[in-house]
Amino acid sequence: MAQLLDGKALAKQIQTDRLASIQTWQANHGRPPGLAVLMVGDHPASMAYVRNKEKACERMGIASLGKHLPADSSQQAIADEILALNQNPQVDGILVQLPLPDHLDATALLNLIDPEKDADGLHPINLGRLVRGEPGLRSCTPAGIMRLLDAYHIPLAGKRAVVLGRSILVGKPMALLLLAANATPTLAHSKTQNLAEVTRSADILVAAVGIPNFVSQAMVKPGATVIDVGINRVPDLVNDPSGGKPSSGKPSGGKTRLVGDVDFAAVEPIAAAITPVPGGIGPMTVTMLLENTIASYCDRLQIKSIA
Ligand code: GUN
Repeated sequence: MAQLLDGKALAKQIQTDRLASIQTWQANHGRPPGLAVLMVGDHPASMAYVRNKEKACERMGIASLGKHLPADSSQQAIADEILALNQNPQVDGILVQLPLPDHLDATALLNLIDPEKDADGLHPINLGRLVRGEPGLRSCTPAGIMRLLDAYHIPLAGKRAVVLGRSILVGKPMALLLLAANATPTLAHSKTQNLAEVTRSADILVAAVGIPNFVSQAMVKPGATVIDVGINRVPDLVNDPSGGKPSSGKPSGGKTRLVGDVDFAAVEPIAAAITPVPGGIGPMTVTMLLENTIASYCDRLQIKSIA
């Protein structure tokens, strides 16, 4: 039986630990930290993620200063919103929820965010700081994974790590953070040959491919630590009497459930430690977004210690 890496519990603990500080800062500085999430369009999964982020802000006493813009918003209209948020003294963190509608140039928009308010750590300046090993705002999912590994005292120095998926949001920054912790990371992807052989070499395996149950037991070294970044919604064939068929009058079909990129039932018995989905990395990502916002606030108000 693998040890369950409980991201939900750790996220809750980190958030609870911050509450008193936020109240003190609010009293001393006249305002709480502020996070602005820019959501464009009505992508259902993104709407759910944004709601989650806003609810977490509320629980923490962080001001949620987001905007929801229509799907047909122009590049200029969104650029103007970002530039206004850069100037807004109430705003410490800015996040543009991805993916954006196809007609928009996401990279150009992300590059407009003030790097000191870049709650997602996706601005080239913050990614450059990460490459150079300088302090800076880090991408939330990889930062959350590092915090979780640290909390469970999973050793990284000298270990082989394999990251599946090379996205700028997760895979690339993850490999760099593992490298900074003295692991030996390999970044594997859809064109990697002999993939199972590569993943079986991993002491720490991070799956971020967005394919349900992609990582099988044969891809995992017995005793490995397995981190599942996937959040995939699939038909719930077990609990849905219709067997996943669209139910009458409901175009979205039958019941669904969340599964990760790892076949949990098959991998859990041979892993030393594993994250569940849900309740693993998802809550840590949201918490690191809040941590980045708090770090920017402290920097901007020259509050020394945030530990
Ligand atoms: N879409 C899915 N995850 C994320 C995230 O962490 N940040 C942003 N900006 N968009 C996302």
